[in-house]
Amino acid sequence: MKLAITGKGGVGKTTLASLLARLYATEGKAVLAIDANPDANLAMALGLPQDEARRITPIAEMKDLIEERTGARPGSKAPFYKLNPRVDDIPEQFSAKIDGIRLLTMGTVKTGGSGCMCPESALLKSLMSHLLFRESDVVIMDMDAGVEHLGRGTAQAVDALIIVVEPGRRSIQTAEAIRRLAGDLGIERCYVVGSKTSSNADRQFITSSMPDFEVLGFIDYSSKIREADLSGVSVFDADPAVVAEVRGIKQGLERKE
Ligand SMILES: Nc1ncnc2c1ncn2[C@@H]1O[C@H](COP(=O)(O)OP(=O)(O)O)[C@@H](O)[C@H]1O
Ligand SMILES: [Mg+2]
Repeated sequence: MKLAITGKGGVGKTTLASLLARLYATEGKAVLAIDANPDANLAMALGLPQDEARRITPIAEMKDLIEERTGARPGSKAPFYKLNPRVDDIPEQFSAKIDGIRLLTMGTVKTGGSGCMCPESALLKSLMSHLLFRESDVVIMDMDAGVEHLGRGTAQAVDALIIVVEPGRRSIQTAEAIRRLAGDLGIERCYVVGSKTSSNADRQFITSSMPDFEVLGFIDYSSKIREADLSGVSVFDADPAVVAEVRGIKQGLERKE
């Protein structure tokens, strides 16, 4: 199962990614979690202590590694670099292990616009395709509000794109934009998870505002999630009710298989 989680900033993507990762890991599955955000914080949501989480360097910022693999140092304006650098040992060497989950923090290539031709993006692309095609039983990608990390090739390996929305028009509008981008890449299975809902009216608002989306389920607003964030506890260990909701969402996904 290869899942990519996307949606507007702050809606609850990282929270959902961490919960799905823990649920699959408790089933004994080999889970690889990929943090593909410029502001990586999946490690903390998984409960890694803050000082350890801070020490993780995203792959996109590992200049020596990028130079060793591609033959060019980021920013060096070297005219040539390898487009398909070797990456097969990177997941094992550079991932953090948290409760049986392997977490790889990718980072992002900071450029204006897409389609950057540079050694760091060559390494990330090569790594992403390795991760999606060859690694692990379960891959969970925590992305930002776009699908930049996926190219035409790698998008095919994604079994489902989960778009997280909260009760409000803005995140729903973002969901529509994301689905158009995903469609351009050939990702057909897009689902919605409603987040931070606190009433039937909230849930109804989401389903009725998105009639042509399939809503897999809801994660209600939970003060325990907020407290977990403040105290550095994993969401999974903080609120059994939320875990149950996400278990339902996961089962819904599996029924679609
Ligand atoms: N269901 C929820 N109830 C209460 N707070 C939530 C819920 N989901 C997320 N949050 C809080 O909202 C903030 C953003 O959540 P996060 O998962 O990091 O969003 P994203 O990854 O989409 O930016 C965090 O402080 C998180 O603790
Ligand atoms: Mg996030």
